[in-house]
Amino acid sequence: MGRIAYVNGRFVPHAQATVHIEDRGYQLADAVYEVWSLFDGKMADAEGHFTRLERSLSELRIAMPMSRRALTLVLREAIRRNRVREGLLYLQVSRGVAPRDHAFPGDEVRPSVVITAKSLDRAAVEAKAARGVAVVTAPENRWGRCDIKTVGLLPNVLAKQKAKEAGAAEAWFVDELGFVTEGSSSNAWIVDADGRLRTRDTNANILRGVTRRTLMDVIAREGLAVDERPFTPAEAVAAREAFVTGAGTLVLPVVAVDGKPIGNGAPGPLAMRLRRLYIDEARAGAV
Ligand code: PDD
Repeated sequence: MGRIAYVNGRFVPHAQATVHIEDRGYQLADAVYEVWSLFDGKMADAEGHFTRLERSLSELRIAMPMSRRALTLVLREAIRRNRVREGLLYLQVSRGVAPRDHAFPGDEVRPSVVITAKSLDRAAVEAKAARGVAVVTAPENRWGRCDIKTVGLLPNVLAKQKAKEAGAAEAWFVDELGFVTEGSSSNAWIVDADGRLRTRDTNANILRGVTRRTLMDVIAREGLAVDERPFTPAEAVAAREAFVTGAGTLVLPVVAVDGKPIGNGAPGPLAMRLRRLYIDEARAGAV
């Protein structure tokens, strides 16, 4: 008998078990999971895994998809249908399926639930344990590689949601030294108090924005200079102008940071000019 998976209320053959392409787990890593070890077809440490699951969900403000009791029944059914005695049980709960947007969707979007169960060869596992294993070390960089355009966007999702709840359009991440790194889905710029264009250098732990790169060429052609030097939120508030860049936003003026207006609280003239120039450049070069 083949493996059976549970997907959103239905048990389906493993090979046909799919979630929608706009599932937020798939697109944004906006999901949590648990793994139970199975002995004699029963969940080990069941309580501990349920408690952590509920905590993970609540930290992300994802609703428990069903009661613990109901979930236990579904998990047991997955074990039963797969005839697993010794093995592993996997549960994943994502925020659900919604058109791609970093911020949370409305409450009408229900969490997605996926469960799989697999058997393992306990004797082989024990033989391996008897031999012992080797380990290697790796730098603790979870997640220090923001230069990679990965879909592991959960921190970005949470930051964007924070912005949305504050009536803002974007969140700027600030590093441990107090400098802005970049936005949750854009690069950050200011025209500082001295009139200099400033944006963070790409040696830092940020995404190398393509829009940022093209805009630099536009700026150079205009005979202007860019100072690739980080700035603090206070410098942004004291700046003449600010804006963000990205494929989703192009060049978008920023008029306030943390509720404090930048300049006179209106889009800056240079930001608006760069937006027009960028759009002209991008439109002309589009293939
Ligand atoms: N985001 N920084 C982050 C974290 C981003 O997600 C993006 C783009 C950028 C700007 O990169 P580019 O100029 O290459 O688009 C910077 C896309 C638009 C998104 O996630 O929707």
